[in-house]
Amino acid sequence: MKHKSWRFMPLAILALASAGLASAPSAGAKEPSAEAVLNTKCSTCHPRTTTGGLFRIDEQRKSPEGWAMTVRRMRQWHGLLLTDSEARTVVKHLADRQGLAPEEAAPFRYALERRTVVETPDDSDVATLCARCHSYARIGLQRRTAAEWRRLAHMHLGQWPTAEYQATARDRKWWEMVSGPLPEKLAAKWPLDSTAWKAWKTHRSPNLSGGWTVAGHRPGKGDYWGRMEVKRNAADSYQLSYRLTWADGTSETGEGRSVVYTGFEWRGSTMLGGEQVSEVLQASADGNRLEGRWYLDDQDAIGASMVAVRGKEAIAGLSPAALKVGETTRLVVAGSALAKDLSLGDGLVVEKVIATTPEAVTVLVSASAGAATGTREISVGKAKAPLVVYDRIATLKVEPETMVARLGGNGGPVPPAPAQFDAVAYAADNLRIGPVPAKWSVGNFDETAEHDQDAKFGGVLRPDGLFMPAGAGPNPARKNLNNIANLLIKAQVAEGSAMVEGSAHLVIAPQRWNDAEIR
Ligand code: HEC
Ligand code: HEC
Repeated sequence: MKHKSWRFMPLAILALASAGLASAPSAGAKEPSAEAVLNTKCSTCHPRTTTGGLFRIDEQRKSPEGWAMTVRRMRQWHGLLLTDSEARTVVKHLADRQGLAPEEAAPFRYALERRTVVETPDDSDVATLCARCHSYARIGLQRRTAAEWRRLAHMHLGQWPTAEYQATARDRKWWEMVSGPLPEKLAAKWPLDSTAWKAWKTHRSPNLSGGWTVAGHRPGKGDYWGRMEVKRNAADSYQLSYRLTWADGTSETGEGRSVVYTGFEWRGSTMLGGEQVSEVLQASADGNRLEGRWYLDDQDAIGASMVAVRGKEAIAGLSPAALKVGETTRLVVAGSALAKDLSLGDGLVVEKVIATTPEAVTVLVSASAGAATGTREISVGKAKAPLVVYDRIATLKVEPETMVARLGGNGGPVPPAPAQFDAVAYAADNLRIGPVPAKWSVGNFDETAEHDQDAKFGGVLRPDGLFMPAGAGPNPARKNLNNIANLLIKAQVAEGSAMVEGSAHLVIAPQRWNDAEIR
């Protein structure tokens, strides 16, 4: 999607704008307060209304990324002069006072966490009229009055007079619909005032400082667990340090910082084992659990799930999360305030206790041939977690099932955007075993791809499931084509004497020239 006003946009500003959420508003410095920015800088174009608020700014609520996107637009499109620090201060202020309650953001967290999913919009009108240019999540992560949903439609047409064509919406009266009945429908579906927000807006941010146990999984690398120490700098602003152990035996440390928006939206920025990562986590209402994803700043398809727990007895994660009958496996239960009494249930025998600390119980477990397969609940003291017991791999799925990677580099300004796949095993009855090491290969997706030899040109799939797209620009070896490709990503694992296979669809597209905080 290209539109005229972005053509002149320096890419560096974009990068700053999207990476800025984890930087704390500078406390104590001579920066003006958010109120001062609103009253002096924003109010020049957004006059006070009769109800005392600022026109346009008052009648909408959104995620921190949503606010960052709006404020970026004010700077880029409308020439608002704001320092980066003023922008962060005003985004924090607006996200805290006009944010989303946890249950309002819940259905669309994948967009905030930058997970690749094919969306399943629950409203086909909104999907066709609006979500052909950008995600449905971008819309579902906003709350507005009908008047504000209507003004948003006007912004779109004003900014992109060709919006109707770009959205391939000439088969219907697009403008009449989006400026006519749609705003009322959106206001009923995603209203400014909601009971969820009414209850949440008085919620006080928990103090998240202290020691946490973390656990998660990074596709292409494996499970990890470890500790995170959190120090509070100022209200909602923290300094972090990590010590992680990976299932492959390696370990790494990290240092970072985070800001908590709207009482639960944790946005972190950490240098972890030599990689710069962004964390998008949500804190539970009691402040004893964080959950979400972190990803590489410059390649957000590469990242890891993360759960952190602290305080009372709780399990952050199991590695592995499934045991095979007839085998002996090393099992790590990572958590907080863990007792010593691990209870695994019938058929699972602890052969050896390798180590027990309040943060991790590590044991060697044998699953007897007669152990019941399925999901069972295991416990350590009062802390519980699900564990899968299975007999054999029945199917293999490649996740994500559909993915877009992007050409890049080759001397051009935009780096390639790789894709990371994980081979996820399932037992009979769709029982999820979890990620397994697999043998990877690439094929052509269809006849056209076969004809154009896409698999030869699109890029390279590494043994860990990471697909690195080829260089951007024309390729003289391919008549009239650059390296775009339509590929089938295949994974194989051995189960007994049989091979089990799974596949995913990967499109190698041109560069992403313009990026937004919520795509
Ligand atoms: C130079 C004029 C100008 C200044 C200064 C300005 N804005 Fe805007 N603002 C606009 C215009 C024009 C629009 C309508 C077009 C659009 O949405 O981009 C707008 C729209 C908005 C909207 C509605 C966006 C939507 O998605 O519907 C919000 C919210 C907003 N501005 C917030 C702010 C904040 C906060 C500031 C100060 C940090 C600010 N603006 C400063 C010109 C300005
Ligand atoms: C022609 C393509 C196109 C269509 C169709 C389209 N959008 Fe957008 N929309 C955009 C682009 C591009 C932006 C990004 C502006 C920016 O980067 O700030 C945007 C921004 C937005 C935003 C974020 C605004 C903010 O600052 O908070 C929302 C919400 C939104 N669109 C909702 C909708 C809705 C609702 C519809 C259907 C009525 C719709 N869009 C249809 C292209 C489109």
